Amino acid sequence: MNTDPGIFQAPQLSPNDFKRLSALVKRHSGINLHEGKQELVKARLNKRLRELGMSTYQEYLDFLQSDATGDEFIIMLNSLSTNVTSFFRESDHFTFLSQTYFPQLRARKAEHDRHIRFWSAGCSSGEEPYTLALVFKEGWADLGNWDVRILATDLSTRVLNNAKQGIYDEPKLADIPRSLRERYFTPLKSKSVEQYQVKENIRSLVHFARLNLLDPWPMRGPFDAIFCRNVMIYFEKKLREQLVNKYWELLAPGGIFFIGHSESLAGITHKFQYVAPTIYKK
Ligand SMILES: C[S@@+](CC[C@H](N)C(=O)[O-])C[C@H]1O[C@@H](n2cnc3c(N)ncnc32)[C@H](O)[C@@H]1O
Repeated sequence: MNTDPGIFQAPQLSPNDFKRLSALVKRHSGINLHEGKQELVKARLNKRLRELGMSTYQEYLDFLQSDATGDEFIIMLNSLSTNVTSFFRESDHFTFLSQTYFPQLRARKAEHDRHIRFWSAGCSSGEEPYTLALVFKEGWADLGNWDVRILATDLSTRVLNNAKQGIYDEPKLADIPRSLRERYFTPLKSKSVEQYQVKENIRSLVHFARLNLLDPWPMRGPFDAIFCRNVMIYFEKKLREQLVNKYWELLAPGGIFFIGHSESLAGITHKFQYVAPTIYKK
């Protein structure tokens, strides 16, 4: 181990190291690091090796495999996961919610049942579940008489920490209509960048937790809607099929399942009813 930063040389990632690393990543997260991702892996992990004073990937891989706490896996997956997201991403899903699904859901709820449960699985830095909360605030009349909770989970502790704070640089708010921005975001006085924080009345609807979708799920459901958008694209068909069927189990009858616009359930055995592209019903 070399801890002198002055003589640190960028570690080389041999084809063998890459193979070993991708097998570990796949086993622990489902994420497929395809051939050709070597440069990306190096760009993201070399810094970590430097912090640890390691000069070879072999050393790092041995360390990962001997780390019984699993902490280094969390750090590694924080670096390797792709967390691109935005407010109102794939906005027709939110239009579907307020125009089509909310009236159905309201009609379906029994007189005494005032609980609504949504799950954003693979929520990244929080834009997706906060958009859901905004849509509820705007589109569900007498919301105060209902117990609405949005569970938001992700593998990456790094993005979850940002999500919990609900603080975003101004450009991230580009897709939020101005009226909503003014109603639900507080401008923060900060040194250089213009930042906004999601207001407490929106944040309180969302509960963030770490969950690796490959691990056992502690929740029992039922959920009225599940969003798992742009997460399973990194997974192989068998894993996608397992997850899709687990989502089906956790949804209430009539509950809706949303996937990303570049995804489909084609070729997967499942019991969902097709509603519209990327929208499915139990
Ligand atoms: C591209 S983001 C999608 C965010 C959001 N759903 C959207 O569509 O904008 C994918 C997210 O899935 C998470 N992810 C990847 N593998 C996961 C796993 N095995 N368990 C839980 N989350 C995972 C990543 O950490 C990342 O934040």
